[in-house]
Amino acid sequence: MEPGYVGENDGLTFWLARPEDYDDVMSISQDIYRGNDYLPHRYHEWMDEPDRVVILARRAGKLVALESGIVVDDGQTVVVEGLRVCPSERGHGVAGVIQAFADSYMKKLYPSIKVKHLTRGDDPGPEKLSKFRLLARRAILSLSGETESFDGFISALKAKLMSNEGAGGSGGTHLALETEQQLRTILLEPDIVSRLQLPGGAIIQDWQPLQPIESNLAVLRRRNLAWFVGGPPEKPAFVSFYTPPYPVTFNGGALRLNIDLYGTDQGLACGALLANLEKVRAELRGTVAMHVYMHGSLYESLRTFCQTETGVQECWEKWEQLFLERDL
Ligand SMILES: CC(C)(COP(=O)(O)OP(=O)(O)OC[C@H]1O[C@@H](n2cnc3c(N)ncnc32)[C@H](O)[C@@H]1OP(=O)(O)O)[C@@H](O)C(=O)NCCC(=O)NCCS
Repeated sequence: MEPGYVGENDGLTFWLARPEDYDDVMSISQDIYRGNDYLPHRYHEWMDEPDRVVILARRAGKLVALESGIVVDDGQTVVVEGLRVCPSERGHGVAGVIQAFADSYMKKLYPSIKVKHLTRGDDPGPEKLSKFRLLARRAILSLSGETESFDGFISALKAKLMSNEGAGGSGGTHLALETEQQLRTILLEPDIVSRLQLPGGAIIQDWQPLQPIESNLAVLRRRNLAWFVGGPPEKPAFVSFYTPPYPVTFNGGALRLNIDLYGTDQGLACGALLANLEKVRAELRGTVAMHVYMHGSLYESLRTFCQTETGVQECWEKWEQLFLERDL
């Protein structure tokens, strides 16, 4: 049998993805996620990431689909990501076939897996959702603008926060976490899930849900995140981070900036957004597509906070991140 072959079903053969499959994978990935696909940037990292499997499906040798899974949460969970089917094969159940294969392949490889987690940015309706437990929904605010506009945007947000402080509100102080030990202390506090109202009990880092437990710290460390805490430093009421911006095809080429917010205090949320933007500013180039993920109760106030005349503008209407679980 050829190297990399792992099985077949329903007219498809399944293979472990290799670095040299990159161009084929890109060719089935046109226009995905409204130009915000992360896979062109992540594909090569995925090739040698620990506990990750990337599976390709081929029909008569031609690439038709991809699905990936990473094992996290002390080996109990596979988080599936990257699902895509080539445009000419969509609507015929191929996604179901590759997902079923990937589930059983992962389970065989890692018998400790008990559940599968996935996040998605569309709501497929109650019938499809009934196959899953819906663990959480988060609101997403999407803005875009040219890098030069971000200086004015940051100044405008700062001015808004200061005038709020005059009126008794406050963005609070948001400290950057400098060491792994600081992050460990905060994330491993037993009450963090309830204090920050973590969605489904997880930190969802750029669409990847991870329980705040020791074994996941290594995964988070690999992502090079910039973390901030707001409220009392020993028991923060707010935690936020940004994922290093990466290139996407949005609007002819842009940097995608994801900012994740955890906590429910509106003032702290505004302060956290500002702290992230001030720190990330030096990394921005060209057009920026910025997505801010948050507890649903924060959306309207964050949206109003971000309404300025600076050229950084809402680019999409409100959308949601659904966090789903299924037994395996
Ligand atoms: C979304 C996509 C993968 C669906 O592929 P498809 O083969 O056309 O899917 P079908 O409509 O034939 O549905 C087949 C199965 O996949 C499931 N499915 C469809 N979209 C899905 C999604 N976004 N996430 C998980 N499962 C999905 C369906 O529920 C169905 O499951 P079932 O067979 O267990 O009932 C395909 O349209 C695509 O590649 N879109 C662009 C990339 C994308 O948006 N990916 C979504 C990742 S969250």
